[in-house]
Amino acid sequence: MTASSWVAVDAYVANLLIPDDAALRAALEASIAAGLPAISVSPLQGKLLQLLARMQGARNVLEIGTLGGYSTIWLARALPPGGRLITLEVDARHAEIARANIALAGLEGVAEVRVGPGLELLPRLAAEQRGPFDFVFIDADKPSTAAYFDWAVRLSRPGAAIVVDNVVRDGALVDPGSTDPDVMGMRHFTERLAADPRVSATIVQTVGVKGHDGFALARVVAD
Ligand code: SAH
Ligand code: DHB
Ligand code: MG
Repeated sequence: MTASSWVAVDAYVANLLIPDDAALRAALEASIAAGLPAISVSPLQGKLLQLLARMQGARNVLEIGTLGGYSTIWLARALPPGGRLITLEVDARHAEIARANIALAGLEGVAEVRVGPGLELLPRLAAEQRGPFDFVFIDADKPSTAAYFDWAVRLSRPGAAIVVDNVVRDGALVDPGSTDPDVMGMRHFTERLAADPRVSATIVQTVGVKGHDGFALARVVAD
């Protein structure tokens, strides 16, 4: 198995299972045109997030790391009438593009983009009692992942689902000597996750158009 076969399988499966969608395509095109990095979740991963949120019956969703709003649109479309999503983004330009993409998808009444460092916005959500969330997607700066996860649990109801992107990073997760802050962040996160009595969790490796990576999936079992 090679990286090119991962991409070929992703293309074959996505072509069958992911209908071409004007708003999602426009969101990616606008993001690229604005010079944003092409690091959104893949179409198949976006659909996975949407399916997980629907299986969860999610009504109140939190996302940390918006970029151009591609994953935001997938998740916001999972919500029932009256459902709400809040997405946190440190970069004002990313947030502006995401807001335009969200509006073009007809989701401006559903998804709210807040601008600032996640670790400043999360305590504010707690102070506002904006939770409890029933689904959280963590996909921002990797060194802060363990801290985001702790906030995600605190802001969630028992039974909530938390999904974390980019945990495996081409297998670097198993390198104890890595000095890459992203890798160190994910090793720290994984070790904290294993010791966290508030959640039941697993990590699933993935291959595809985004290479070899993986998601952490957790269920909050207690406050
Ligand atoms: N979830 C998006 C991709 C997010 S990329 C998708 O799949 O479509 C990661 C994003 O996290 C970037 O836009 C980056 O600006 C943002 N980010 C980085 N550091 C952050 C921080 N401290 N707080 C909030 N967002 C941050
Ligand atoms: C990067 C960030 C991501 O969230 C991702 O899914 C892929 C790559 C990055 O910063 O390189
Ligand atoms: Mg990611």
